Amino acid sequence: DDFEGQGVWRYADALPLADGVTTQEGATPLYEVPRLEADIGVEALRIKHEGMNPTGSFKDRGMTVGVGVAKELGVGRLACASTGNTSAALAAYGSRGGMETLVLLPAGKVAAGKIAQASLHGARILEVDGNFDACLDIVQELAEAGEAYLLNSLNPFRLEGQKTIGLEILEGFLADYDAVPDRIVLPVGNAGNTAALYKAFRELVQAGELDEDDVPKLTGVQAEGAAPMVEAVENGADEVRRWDDVETRATAIRIGNPVNAPKALPGIRETGGTAVAVSDEAITDAQRDLAGEGIGVEPASAASVAGLRKLRAEGTVDDDERVACLTTGHLLKDPDAAAAAGNDPEPVPADTEGVLATLASESSPD
Ligand code: F0G
Repeated sequence: DDFEGQGVWRYADALPLADGVTTQEGATPLYEVPRLEADIGVEALRIKHEGMNPTGSFKDRGMTVGVGVAKELGVGRLACASTGNTSAALAAYGSRGGMETLVLLPAGKVAAGKIAQASLHGARILEVDGNFDACLDIVQELAEAGEAYLLNSLNPFRLEGQKTIGLEILEGFLADYDAVPDRIVLPVGNAGNTAALYKAFRELVQAGELDEDDVPKLTGVQAEGAAPMVEAVENGADEVRRWDDVETRATAIRIGNPVNAPKALPGIRETGGTAVAVSDEAITDAQRDLAGEGIGVEPASAASVAGLRKLRAEGTVDDDERVACLTTGHLLKDPDAAAAAGNDPEPVPADTEGVLATLASESSPD
């Protein structure tokens, strides 16, 4: 169709299909953030804003490939467990491909914008009395029983599409700095992106397109209340211990059993990266910092910037590094979190005098 060869599909040579079910995903902005760059204190900082995809998150890159494969296979029902964004993308791409979609969500823990998307795009939505990890256990069993085709990031075709995030970041840095970034900082939930970016870079090295020593340091960030990957990296463990109780305001990454850890942990280690946990307060501060540069992201996305700030303050990140932070989802995904973090609207009477009186009271703190 019209979008052929654009966005994600510009990288068709690196993908398992020549085209998929598309709504023109990918080709997202790599924003400059000069104030934040100076404030955090690195040589260069760019924000790869995946919230600028069609459904407002990076999941579209995986779904255009994964749903494309499902369509080729002619499967009936598509299903996923989700903290919200995967369900929104699956519902949109499934409906575009003319397929039935089923999503399992942790009851009460999914941001409003994401449920609205899954709902309007026509997914059957099951609200599970349990957390995301329980939803994923169930949907894996449904898939094994032949009830549905699984479109979580355990599906390798999803991660093939998400490789293109890494390819776009490298191209953007090469164009602007004549060098790839020293480090890529990203929020971690199921660690799908960490695994996908590592695969993309390994393939480039194997193809002789990227020097082994130039592979960016993959640096994962989790919320303190849901940080099993950080625990494993800090302990030098080969396996991640499942956390049964997880909590964070960044509901997208409220995950205790990162299923892609076996592929992602080597990525963090082999590239010389690290993993760090940040508080919910630091996440909200980073969300405000990005908003102050005109970039609207959901809480999980801001974790990348919060993590970079923490690692820079600790001296783990050097001041001469060029860094890309991945912001994974749009501000409007979680309007309640945005409103809670931002200014409150002020009620005023419907006359200019009253408005002026309110403005005067606000401008003079005494
Ligand atoms: N950021 C956002 C906004 C997400 O929605 C997710 C995952 C992540 C980061 C973590 O990415 O799993 O590749 O490490 N969301 C999934 C979902 C779990 O269901 O929408 P990861």
